[in-house]
Amino acid sequence: MEMIATNVRKDAAIVVLTGAGISADSGVATFRGPDGLWEGHRVEDVATPEAFASDPVLVHHFYDQRRARLLEVAPNAAHFALARLEHQWAGSVLVVTQNVDDLHERSGSAALVHMHGALNSGWCLACNARFAWSGAMGEGARCPRCGTVGKVRPDIVWFGEMPYEMERIDEAVRACDLFVSIGTSGAVYPAAGLVQTARYVGAHCVELNLDPSQGSIFFHETRLGRAAEIVPAFVDELLAG
Ligand code: APR
Repeated sequence: MEMIATNVRKDAAIVVLTGAGISADSGVATFRGPDGLWEGHRVEDVATPEAFASDPVLVHHFYDQRRARLLEVAPNAAHFALARLEHQWAGSVLVVTQNVDDLHERSGSAALVHMHGALNSGWCLACNARFAWSGAMGEGARCPRCGTVGKVRPDIVWFGEMPYEMERIDEAVRACDLFVSIGTSGAVYPAAGLVQTARYVGAHCVELNLDPSQGSIFFHETRLGRAAEIVPAFVDELLAG
């Protein structure tokens, strides 16, 4: 289909939704690809409040391993391209990520929402504080604010829990002129429904993904390829447009 994203106004408001696919080229496993299992578990079986209640050791181990993995990976060209877009684009750019890694921050994105939480954040169920967390958490973690031991959980939005900052996200999508979805299968709501809101308000909707997502029909344009290649090219076209 003809590339028309560059016809957007130069001060257009842009919302970018990202998923695991943008971090795949950094070596971070996606959820529903061939490597979509973790130690034989379906992610849906470990990323739930029920799993945490019944087997906190297993769930902490799952997140401790993914948090440790962050130290071994780095942002890729797709992350850096989005940071460049934010800093060089005349209009607003908001990155809404489903990812819990810190690769957007490390590449320079500042206008960023982690709607599914973040691996480098902890949450104390005793005092409800949230705080930076690096290294293993495990069951005996102590809350840095109230000192309670054993009530700290990963600050991750699990299946069945409400994603973070949905009002801010909905407001930004309703006000955007260009909605770009990168590296997500469109399998999980409410993230997967954002393109329908964008379409409803008349935004131009573009999908950049390795394979067509479950929501491809809602996009005006779909470009297939690896994010590390097609996202920088897309950003170059927008900035040169
Ligand atoms: N470049 C671009 N896209 C890629 C690449 C790549 N190198 N590799 C994989 N993809 C695409 C796949 O085609 C797929 O559509 O990224 C998408 C990854 O889909 P999922 O693994 O389902 O990840 P995501 O869409 O982010 O999952 C959403 O589900 O498990 C929950 O909370 C978790 O945030 C996650 C949510």
